[in-house]
Amino acid sequence: MNAIPAIRVAIVGAGPSGFYAAEALLRSGLPVRVDMIERLPTPFGLVRSGVAPDHPKLKQPILVYERIARTPGFNFFGNVQVGRDITVAELRATHHAVVFACGAETDRRMGIPGEDLPRSHTATEFVGWFNGHPDYRDQTFDLSQETVAIVGQGNVAADVCRILAKPVDELRSTDIAEHALDALGRSRVREIHVIGRRGPVQAKFTTKELRELGEIVQCSTLADAADLALNADSETELSDRNNLNAPGNIALFCAFAARKPSVGQRAIRFRFHLSPVALVGDGRVEKLILTRNRLEGPPFAQFARPTDETVQLDCGLVFRSIGYRGVAIPGLPFNDALGTVPHTRGRVLDGAVTLPGLYVTGWLKRGPTGIIGTNRADSVETVESLLADLSKGCTLGKRGAEAVGELLEARGVRVFNYQNWSMLDTAEISRGKLKGKPREKFTRIDEMLAVSTDCGALEGGHSADLA
Ligand SMILES: Cc1cc2nc3c(=O)[nH]c(=O)nc-3n(C[C@H](O)[C@H](O)[C@H](O)COP(=O)(O)OP(=O)(O)OC[C@H]3O[C@@H](n4cnc5c(N)ncnc54)[C@H](O)[C@@H]3O)c2cc1C
Ligand SMILES: NC(=O)c1ccc[n+]([C@@H]2O[C@H](COP(=O)([O-])OP(=O)(O)OC[C@H]3O[C@@H](n4cnc5c(N)ncnc54)[C@H](OP(=O)(O)O)[C@@H]3O)[C@@H](O)[C@H]2O)c1
Repeated sequence: MNAIPAIRVAIVGAGPSGFYAAEALLRSGLPVRVDMIERLPTPFGLVRSGVAPDHPKLKQPILVYERIARTPGFNFFGNVQVGRDITVAELRATHHAVVFACGAETDRRMGIPGEDLPRSHTATEFVGWFNGHPDYRDQTFDLSQETVAIVGQGNVAADVCRILAKPVDELRSTDIAEHALDALGRSRVREIHVIGRRGPVQAKFTTKELRELGEIVQCSTLADAADLALNADSETELSDRNNLNAPGNIALFCAFAARKPSVGQRAIRFRFHLSPVALVGDGRVEKLILTRNRLEGPPFAQFARPTDETVQLDCGLVFRSIGYRGVAIPGLPFNDALGTVPHTRGRVLDGAVTLPGLYVTGWLKRGPTGIIGTNRADSVETVESLLADLSKGCTLGKRGAEAVGELLEARGVRVFNYQNWSMLDTAEISRGKLKGKPREKFTRIDEMLAVSTDCGALEGGHSADLA
């Protein structure tokens, strides 16, 4: 009897959605080979480079991903960027299906004058920098400024705020990048304004994250009672039993409004109903110009309508934390307005036409919302579509990893396989141990590649598993 030919699936992106897609495929009971292609040498996407260093428990899904990576039939091609080192068309030729799980790697823009002035940054840059993402290794932030504005009231804004507000000694035992620890140790930041365009009921913080901002030592977390007056529609939103975070958040904002600033301490100030209209300054940010808004529209669809009132905030550093955006990949349809890949249940669409063999999952599929676990159901849906399509006929043999390995070798691309990553992982953990940290990340790609070469030479070397 002939063996059933393996189903070759390439997954592009080694973040949560990529790993959950791999898990669903490898658990399908079918003879599947998964080739995960990741542009960085390191796997785990935003779990490594987004989740805040002082939230180590939230990085635990990595233990699950490590198990998936060790499942027979799984291959890792790190340090390979699709669209640069290998094309979408080539992957379609070498695999029965390609799943894009590339996340949302850039940021939304405010579209206002002065947005690109020096000392105006995105949360993406700051988070990538303190988490040791190689793209942001050489970013600098002027932490000599005393007043900082963060635009946006979601959990990423909360992370940015906490890292700026916490005493640096509380970060020393985390896996925060060394360069960030040094810079934060010299920080002169005193006042952090966290600015929402709508009201306190509409703030997107989860209550747990908001509470944490109120518990930072040597920091007064404050709100203005006048800002907490609610219109009738916000009261309706607040009393809706499906509104999980707003009641807890309002209780916290009220408690913050009752607090007094303490002399000599840092302060976090929540500001509401304010939209930035310009960043101004002499060659760098010195002021944020805001317009006061009022809420209009029905409950749960209230939007910020600008009034004639303008508010100025003197501040020397601005972080825009208003959401992420997917990046277009050459050869793959892209909805530029949404920053996502158009799809129906994970099947990539070109206009109204489904493109056979192409699938999408995670933040690139649904946009930049949802926690790590949200990506599991999303990837299961995409894999269900993929397997349903393949069950209609997948007779043609494909060479999968072997063909990809040959293409990359011919192009001189240095593939970083899972063994290479494991060596780098071990090296990071041992560097961290010396400093009482869970790991000290390598933050430059050439260093990452060199570490695994050095370790490989010591251990007799490892070649890519292209089986
Ligand atoms: C700052 C921040 C903090 C967060 N903190 C938490 C938290 O504490 N808890 C929580 O539950 N959720 C958190 N989230 C949300 C969570 O990180 C996301 O839900 C999740 O990471 C999305 O998974 P993804 O796989 O779609 O994208 P990602 O995690 O972004 O993974 C995408 C991967 O694709 C790779 N890639 C991109 N383009 C290419 C290409 N062309 N070729 C090859 N590879 C490519 C990227 O390098 C990356 O590794 C946070 C998000 C952010 C932004
Ligand atoms: N610890 C955790 O679990 C954790 C940590 C970090 C991130 N995450 C998750 O990751 C996802 C992304 O988080 P996020 O904070 O980037 O996004 P988010 O939750 O969508 O918050 C974005 C914020 O930006 C505001 N905004 C958007 N456009 C704006 C504009 N033009 N001007 C002014 N403000 C604007 C939004 O206000 P409006 O509401 O008015 O649009 C909102 O306050 C979320 O699902 C989050 O929960 C989780």
